[in-house]
Amino acid sequence: MKTVILKPTKDSISLCAEQLKSGELIGLPTETVYGLAGLALAPESLAKIFEAKSRPTMDPLIVHVALETPSTAALMKEKLIDPKELSDAAVKKIDRLIRKFWPGPLTLVLPKSSLVPDLATSGLPTVAIRMPAHPVALELIRAVGSPLCAPSANQFGKISPTSAADVKKELDGKIPSILDGGECERGIESTIILVDEDAEVFCLRPGSLALEEIEAALDGEKIRMKALDSSQGPLKAPGMLKSHYAPKTPLMVLEHRLDRLTTLPQIPQTAKKIGVLVMEGNLQQAENLAEAMFDHAVEVRSLSRDGESNEMARNFFRALRELDECGADLILSEPIPNGTGGLLYALRDRLKKASTPAKAG
Ligand code: TXA
Ligand code: MG
Repeated sequence: MKTVILKPTKDSISLCAEQLKSGELIGLPTETVYGLAGLALAPESLAKIFEAKSRPTMDPLIVHVALETPSTAALMKEKLIDPKELSDAAVKKIDRLIRKFWPGPLTLVLPKSSLVPDLATSGLPTVAIRMPAHPVALELIRAVGSPLCAPSANQFGKISPTSAADVKKELDGKIPSILDGGECERGIESTIILVDEDAEVFCLRPGSLALEEIEAALDGEKIRMKALDSSQGPLKAPGMLKSHYAPKTPLMVLEHRLDRLTTLPQIPQTAKKIGVLVMEGNLQQAENLAEAMFDHAVEVRSLSRDGESNEMARNFFRALRELDECGADLILSEPIPNGTGGLLYALRDRLKKASTPAKAG
């Protein structure tokens, strides 16, 4: 199959809607990362998603909706969730979050209805749902007339795509079309939040909506992290595997930022070129410093001008992908700056997972 990158015109969006309705998958721009979209309520389309990504079916998908006026009531009208399983207090919080953050990079884990195929949720009684903020994503969902499942459009465990060209590299020949919605504005995935039966709020995956923004919307209520722990019963976030978002090139995180390093890391003798990821500052200066420090050819990327975490997040996967593709034998990354404010926490999660050697796929 030939994979074509399409400008998002009215005609190309209609074409993609038809392709989706006939069971094909589409590369979909969102404000976070590009998704691999298929019909959320059709098990055959879902099966294709898992196959195209080589993703294990134990890793559940996110259902993407396009509500006219985002609210819990509008979501219930879509018949994707089972409101009987939610207390009034939980509904109140969920409604607040939906009204405040949708469309946007917030995914909510809610009790699923029987309409949602078990394949979408890996057999869990809950379904993850979000309303993306990218106009092309919303237009496409509306043109199809039913929700779409869309995991990040990368091969399982690999670097998430933030441009149409990235998607083509990951899925060439496996999908007919990729809608080109430009570079992703956020750059890392949505934040996943669970509001449980007792209306307690947990974060299952930090992402491009900062936790303090969600806490502020809940009158300062503290959100706890829910880590993956199979000994505590069913997995609440099976996708939170240790290794993820990983480049093919080995990635090592340095102990300190480049200009504060006192000892150099051990670099294999055979290495010819190293990629260097710095967090902030002028690229030319970072290049000069790296060239002076290492006896190797270096390729340097800087994530931001001044350490602003939204900018760092926006550039993170792109920089990692470029370093992965530059022919380096090793990538060295500065650690994410201290602190948990803004997107630093989510960035630390992504860098940690990217630097754990992948066991499979
Ligand atoms: O920003 C995003 O969320 C992107 C764009 C394309 O929308 N999508 C994305 O999907 O990141 P994906 O498939 O890469 O991540 C889905 C993750 C799963 O790995 C799992 O951690 C969590 O969502 N998830 C899905 N359903 C769940 C459920 N019922 N309970 C707990 N976690 C769930
Ligand atoms: Mg993913």
